[in-house]
Amino acid sequence: MKEEKLLKLLESLSWTEKVGQLVQLSGEFFNTSALTVGPQQKLGISDNMLKHVGSVLNVAGAANTKEIQQQYLEKSSHKIPLLFMADIIYGYRTVFPIPLGLGATWNPDLVKEAYTVIGKEAQSGGAHVTFAPMVDLVRDARWGRCLESTGEDSFLNSAFASAMVSGLQQDLDKQEGIASCVKHFAAYGAAEGGREYNTVDMSERKLRQDYLPSYKAAVDAGCKLVMTSFNTYDGVPVTGNQFILKDILRDEWGFDGVIISDYAAVRELIDHGIAEDNKEAAYLAINATNDIDMKSPCYANELEPLLNEGRIDGKLIDQAVLRVLKLKNDLGLFEDPFRRATEEKEKETLLKEEHRALAKKVTAESIVLLKNEHGLLPLDPQTDKKILLVGPYGDNQELIGLWAVHGKTTDTISIKTGIESYLKPENFHVEKGCDMLESYEFLGEFGATKDMIDSLSMSDEEKAMHLDHALREARSADIIIFAMGEHTMQSGEAGSRTDICLPQIQRAFMKQLIELGKKTILISISGRPLVLTEEAETIDAIMQVWFPGTEGGHAIADVLFGKTNPSGRLSMSFPYSVGQLPLYYSEFKTGRPLTSSTHSGRFVSKYLDSPNAPLFPFGYGLNYSSVQYSDLTLSDTTMSDELLINVTIKNSSSIDCLETVQLYIQDVVGSVVRPVKELKQFKKLSIAGNTTATVQFILTRDELKYYTHSMDYDVETGSFIVFVGPNSEETLEASFQLV
Ligand code: GLC
Repeated sequence: MKEEKLLKLLESLSWTEKVGQLVQLSGEFFNTSALTVGPQQKLGISDNMLKHVGSVLNVAGAANTKEIQQQYLEKSSHKIPLLFMADIIYGYRTVFPIPLGLGATWNPDLVKEAYTVIGKEAQSGGAHVTFAPMVDLVRDARWGRCLESTGEDSFLNSAFASAMVSGLQQDLDKQEGIASCVKHFAAYGAAEGGREYNTVDMSERKLRQDYLPSYKAAVDAGCKLVMTSFNTYDGVPVTGNQFILKDILRDEWGFDGVIISDYAAVRELIDHGIAEDNKEAAYLAINATNDIDMKSPCYANELEPLLNEGRIDGKLIDQAVLRVLKLKNDLGLFEDPFRRATEEKEKETLLKEEHRALAKKVTAESIVLLKNEHGLLPLDPQTDKKILLVGPYGDNQELIGLWAVHGKTTDTISIKTGIESYLKPENFHVEKGCDMLESYEFLGEFGATKDMIDSLSMSDEEKAMHLDHALREARSADIIIFAMGEHTMQSGEAGSRTDICLPQIQRAFMKQLIELGKKTILISISGRPLVLTEEAETIDAIMQVWFPGTEGGHAIADVLFGKTNPSGRLSMSFPYSVGQLPLYYSEFKTGRPLTSSTHSGRFVSKYLDSPNAPLFPFGYGLNYSSVQYSDLTLSDTTMSDELLINVTIKNSSSIDCLETVQLYIQDVVGSVVRPVKELKQFKKLSIAGNTTATVQFILTRDELKYYTHSMDYDVETGSFIVFVGPNSEETLEASFQLV
């Protein structure tokens, strides 16, 4: 529809009809089979308003969306189609690794391909918008939503944010793909104590320097929507925060797309204690230019009264409604309310072989080899050694993680299935060995009934039987593979935990088998960095596989048996202890740095009972090759506009590898303190066996900009150090002067 027609449509709407476009309700309100009395009454939405609601939350499927759209348009006087928005975070039916695993690929181009597939599958399923990517910076592994983030570094997160938005919205103007809604704006990942929905409080400098870049990258990549975050910034909840939403997002960044609140976040302004009631909450949110109120009655019931009382200008509502109508128009909904979603197209699109093949490739690149004592891995598929797979994740298809609501675990390749494709049956045995958790009581909060919870737990007899069988098989095995990890529901939203070791029941079980003195391999399944300090001491090889997605078992087996040379590098630090958190590589030096202070041993910045450094650092990951870095050279010892940086990398093994070469800098003295290291560039390249490569980076003056003491985004001349290496700790270094 042409712009002028859209404006005429806006003018033709009543205030109730306009307000309706700013309200989003979940699927049960559009239940076509029965009148939705319950939820409607509970939320306080009138029948009249229900007729005008503009968008639907978390309904997908071509048949479902078409039926609801058809029913809705039949009753709509202005025939404004509904927008269908859903959480399609890292996969629709073909589920990729969780984003913390995608971050470990250090391969934004590959992840863009994955998100193009996600957009195609979701579009075929009738979704118009996805609440993705989630680009919150995360530095505290206690927070369950690390799962959805690509990690602790704003530069790396920005690269993935841009790739994911571009993938989802590929050919959007040709009605392909779906609109991207970046979230959660802003700084939700800095929740104090890693506790879900907790306070966020930081300087504007830290917000701009560390937390905002990835959202900005998504906006610059053209994301159509932004979702507000639950947290406060500087004492004001973001959903009602004019500084964040209006001053920065709209005025500074020029974002003129749709801002949608997170779930009930408008009404939660009351719980925060910044609004007396629904009307005040609506007032704060609409003035902050939040356009859509997700799943709360505030806009629905209070915007018109605010208008009639003269407390808000009608222009605020008109601007918000126009942004929603433009989004619907950009998606071609006025011409085709179904966006070509048909059950036939859906059937032929979902879980296509090439989608599975891509998922396997992405998963393989997400796997991080954390330890490989004496080169135990890769295993020889022709081996006549006896291999035992034990643990709750051995024969288990629950590998897609919490936020894969449209995926099916029944599509998933288990680790058992993956390994079976390599080994002769007589050399491979599987035992569950132990339960996943000591207790499943916590699932009650997610609606599990007592019977369901009871059915999940093993009886004492079952526990004894499984242990007995595992010990018996382990005694005759040569190699034991432990498939262990946290439960799906122990991470993701509302999944904050203070004990992030492997579940005690699993650790006790492993200890008993480790005493047998066999070669051991741990496959760790998690949505966050776990504390693997004990396992790093006692297990011979450790693979971090995250929640690996639909093709998990195949990709894990390919790495185990060497078809894939692991190339994953951590995008989030793994701590020695939960007590170190928050933990990240780009920390400040402090006045008493551990290694260079003039003060005596005790009186420096450290713990009495833990190292400062992580167990496994940002950027870390092993492979099956043998790679050496040497000859770091700079084109000059002074830099004005740019500096050429060369490094030699030798693969002295016969095994080809994918190597992620990382370039960090340190601004040694600034007008404010500066991090000990900052990632500035990285290259993931293939290095054939027995070859040597020279890698060149061109560092530019702009890359050295930061928020100075005066809050100008600028460079300051002086001493800099360049670091190049395979991770944030093992680096070659050289100095230069910026002039
Ligand atoms: C949830 C999440 C958000 C999600 C939204 C809709 O509470 O915070 O990430 O997109 O509600 O389901």
